[in-house]
Order: sequence, then C-alpha cells, then structure tokens
Amino acid sequence: MLIRSDNDGFNHPVPSEITSRRIYEGRRDLIKLMAAGTAGAALAGWAARDARAQAVARPGKLAALPGAKSGVAGAATMEKITPYKDASTYNNYYEFGTDKEDPAQTAHTLKTRPWTVEIEGLVKKPAKYTIEDLLKLSAQEERIYRMRCVEGWSMVIPWVGYSMSELIKRVEPLGSAKYVEFITLADPKTMPFVGSRVLEWPYVEGLRLDEAMHPLTLLTFGMYGEILPNQNGAPVRLVVPWKYGFKSGKSLVKIRFTDKQPATAWNKAAAQEYGFYSNVNPNVDHPRWSQATERRIGEDGLFTKKRKTLMFNGYEAQVGQLYAGMDLKKLY
Ligand code: MTE
Repeated sequence: MLIRSDNDGFNHPVPSEITSRRIYEGRRDLIKLMAAGTAGAALAGWAARDARAQAVARPGKLAALPGAKSGVAGAATMEKITPYKDASTYNNYYEFGTDKEDPAQTAHTLKTRPWTVEIEGLVKKPAKYTIEDLLKLSAQEERIYRMRCVEGWSMVIPWVGYSMSELIKRVEPLGSAKYVEFITLADPKTMPFVGSRVLEWPYVEGLRLDEAMHPLTLLTFGMYGEILPNQNGAPVRLVVPWKYGFKSGKSLVKIRFTDKQPATAWNKAAAQEYGFYSNVNPNVDHPRWSQATERRIGEDGLFTKKRKTLMFNGYEAQVGQLYAGMDLKKLY
C-alpha cells in the first residue's frame, strides 16, 4: 500500500505493490546493468540493504507459547513455512511506518503490558479482559495458515492462539448483533506514525458476526511457537486467513458488537479499492492490478514463477458457504 498525495491536501493511501515493485524494478535495473557491465556498484547497494535486513533480524528468543497442533479443518498446510526472519521483518504496521522494514526497527517502543481488551456493544456480558486473562481463556493451538496480502505477496505462518469464537461465546452476543468491530491501539507516544494522515486512527477492522465466529478466525497471541513480536501485532491480533492480510488487525484494544457494518480503516481511505469483505478472490481484480497470482515471500528468486492465487486463499471448502448467493464482484 502506497501513499499518494492528491490536490485536496489529504494523503490518500492507495494500494500498490510498492516493495515487490521496487524489488522487481531493482532486478530489472540489475539485469540492464549486467548487460552494460556496470553491475558491481548496484550489487554493493543490494548487499548493504541485505545487511540492514540481517541487522534487524530476530530480537532474541521470545517466550514460548504452548500450542498443540489444531484439529480445526483447514488449520494446517503442507506448504513450506515462511522463514521467521521474513515474517518478522517484512511487515505492514502503518502505526510504525509505511515501509515493510520499518515496523521491525521501530515497534520496540510499543508497550504490551499492562494491556486490556474491552468488549462492548451488543452483548449480554460486556467485559474488560486483561491480556493475562485472555491468554488463558482457552487452550492455545498452532495453526499454519496461508496469508495473502492485497499487494500480491503471500506467506505461510504458524500462528498460536484460539478461535475468536471462544471469546465471543463468553460475552454472549445479543440477537441484534450482526457485525464485530476490531479496534486497535493508537498511541501517539509510542507509535511514531499515529497522527500522520496516512490513515484515520485508530486502525479499525470489521467482520460479519458469522465470519468472526468461524473456527478458522484466530485470536492470535504468538507465532512460530513464541509470543508475537511487536511488529506482528503483539500482544494480541486477529488472523483471518481467507481474507486479504489487512483484515487482520494488530494490537487489539477493543472489540465492539454492532448492528451496522463497521467503517474500516482501508475502506474509509479508498472504498473503491478495499471493500468490507476483502475475501481473497483471484477472479476479482483490484482496480489497478490483477489478483490472479502471488509472490511467495522467501521463494522469490530471480526467475521464480508466481503462484496462482486460490479462491478464498485455499479455504473455500471451509468458508465458501458463508458467501452463498452473494455477488462477490460487487461485495468485494
Ligand atoms: N493492523 C494495524 N493496527 N495496523 C496496520 O497497519 N496492517 C495490516 C494488518 N494489520 C495493519 C494491521 C496489513 S495491510 C497486513 S498485510 C497485515 O497486518 C500484515 O501482518 P504481518 O506484518 O504480521 O504479516
């Protein structure tokens, strides 16, 4: 996602394959330079960038989170797991900067204790949960999910958490509750980009109640068997594997049950580009590019072919029935 400055003075965020395009163009330039016999300097630049990426690698081992393999249908894939280094240094977390490398370098300022998540709106039992309460509310499981970003790249990540439905059941939604709004932290003191006009803050996401109740929707506390690094949304985030990555709000502080479809951060910023549903769908192009294929992070050699993107990111058997009869071209 890229920021475009229009004449109205507002910084409209518009999506773009910013990093992949940069890498792609970098490679194209490199090929040109090789042909011209002047690739040495360019290679030195690449090496420096790579060294910078290495320098922000693993922040030391984080505390282990228990997580037996999940029995939920679709919660495992035989595909190769993305290296931890890629998953924790190639991030979108705009509160900490708009470059993929920014969050790993700047999110150490995020204070994840004390932390509470407030449940409010159309529920019988509104409550304020401390992170300690949430961590033990249900048994944590490991789920290996394919993640597909709207920008055209994907990863395979072993998350740790439990189904969001476990929490929802405890608070007993009223019959009038149809949607769930996920509100994330917006703290200008610890998040350098909150206050910038990139997006409206706080970053808000939303699901229909039945989507939030689906067993694959994960309330997530960890990845790779350890607690979440800050840049991946510590101490607790949402993961919805059949939707584009931006639906998975990080660092949740409030969960609100409503009867109206929530206004979400990217939808407010550019409604024609980011719908409320944002289900992964290779047949519905983004207004400015195709969504038919994806680049798997960690597999992107010079000549690697892109993968075909799967309907509902490969989770059609599990979630397809949630959208029966809907026109997915209109409700994108
Ligand atoms: N949550 C918050 N609070 N702020 C963000 O900028 N970015 C979203 C999503 N959740 C974002 C967020 C986007 S665009 C993506 S692709 C995923 O987080 C990236 O998650 P990852 O960095 O763990 O891969």
